[in-house]
Amino acid sequence: MSILFEPTEINGMKLANRFVRSATWEGMAAADGACTPRLTELTAELARGAVGLIITSHAYVRPEGQAGPWQMGVHRDALVEGLRKMTGAAHEHGSRIVLQIAHSGHMANPKLTGQPALAPSAVAGFAKTPPREMSATDIEDVADAFGQGARRAQEAGFDGVQLHLAHGYLLSQFLSPAFNRREDEYGGTVENRARAALAVLGRVRSAVGKNYPVLVKINSQDFMAGGLSEDDSLQAALLLEEAGIDAVEVSGGTMLSGDLIPPRAKINTEEKEAYFRDAAKRLKERLRIPVILVGGVRSFDLAERLVKEGYADYISMSRPFIREPDLVRRWRSGDLRRATCASDNQCFGAAMAGEGIYCVVERKRQKSG
Ligand SMILES: Cc1cc2nc3c(=O)[nH]c(=O)nc-3n(C[C@H](O)[C@H](O)[C@H](O)COP(=O)(O)O)c2cc1C
Repeated sequence: MSILFEPTEINGMKLANRFVRSATWEGMAAADGACTPRLTELTAELARGAVGLIITSHAYVRPEGQAGPWQMGVHRDALVEGLRKMTGAAHEHGSRIVLQIAHSGHMANPKLTGQPALAPSAVAGFAKTPPREMSATDIEDVADAFGQGARRAQEAGFDGVQLHLAHGYLLSQFLSPAFNRREDEYGGTVENRARAALAVLGRVRSAVGKNYPVLVKINSQDFMAGGLSEDDSLQAALLLEEAGIDAVEVSGGTMLSGDLIPPRAKINTEEKEAYFRDAAKRLKERLRIPVILVGGVRSFDLAERLVKEGYADYISMSRPFIREPDLVRRWRSGDLRRATCASDNQCFGAAMAGEGIYCVVERKRQKSG
């Protein structure tokens, strides 16, 4: 049996294989952030497709932290009931499911939220509307909201939570010297820049207890002038491990990375795949907790080698599952052809247009066939 189909555990969460569906905003939640039947059905489809661990889209923990339209929220107790349907769908078909909890900081959309965006520093130029610099009390309040969000996740039956520390959202902004210009205990050294994330982790742990999986997704670097470096990312990951996280998913970049980040489109050769593999290996060599690699993985053979050769413990994908929710089942059945995802990012456009995420190429193919 391939190492990819070995059963494993993350802090008591039993996983049937090493495949993870990376957090993916689907644009399918209700306007108030509630889980919808479409989202539940999409979850069921991924679970029927044998994905070991499903990570949901980012769910905002406070209203002003909403990044985009039709995004899931976990900011009110009334949302728990809908989320329970989602976890039920995953469990019914043998998958585990983790809720990604998030706050988008200056990437929030004030037109949508009706409130000014919050950020570590009121740096102009990163967002259309200048954000408001957070006070120490704001930071405590947001940390508390993450704790409440995690409690709701646990009540809704999620097997764990993932803290979104990547891609230039609020906690990634705190980690990044490009966005975080603070001169208090939340800015400056990497220990200080990690303090907000550690405060969040503290609140989350108190809410859910020590036997509940708490994962993070972190940037290996920001790929921006003056942004988070690989060394600082490693230091932050070590601090988070020390403070009790259970696994780390390694990603990278922000909306402002431009051409500095490895190309994420047209991933048509093995060399272009798994573009954060070396960064993941660096973390894996220093951390004791499992490392999850995301970004451009498309080939079974490469995924297997990356795990065997100690680059990562788990293989995470987002776009391939939009086209082929049954990819893991297909691979498990012995059909090891690479994922058919063309990495053209048209799926994102469909969700932005309010249609909910789908593979545009696949739909055209089905219509013409
Ligand atoms: C439509 C879309 C929505 C995404 N939403 C999220 C999200 O909510 N949270 C997150 O951490 N990453 C999000 N991502 C990033 C993916 O999780 C993943 O890191 C990235 O797409 C690279 O992996 P892939 O090459 O397998 O798609 C999103 C990506 C796409 C294409």
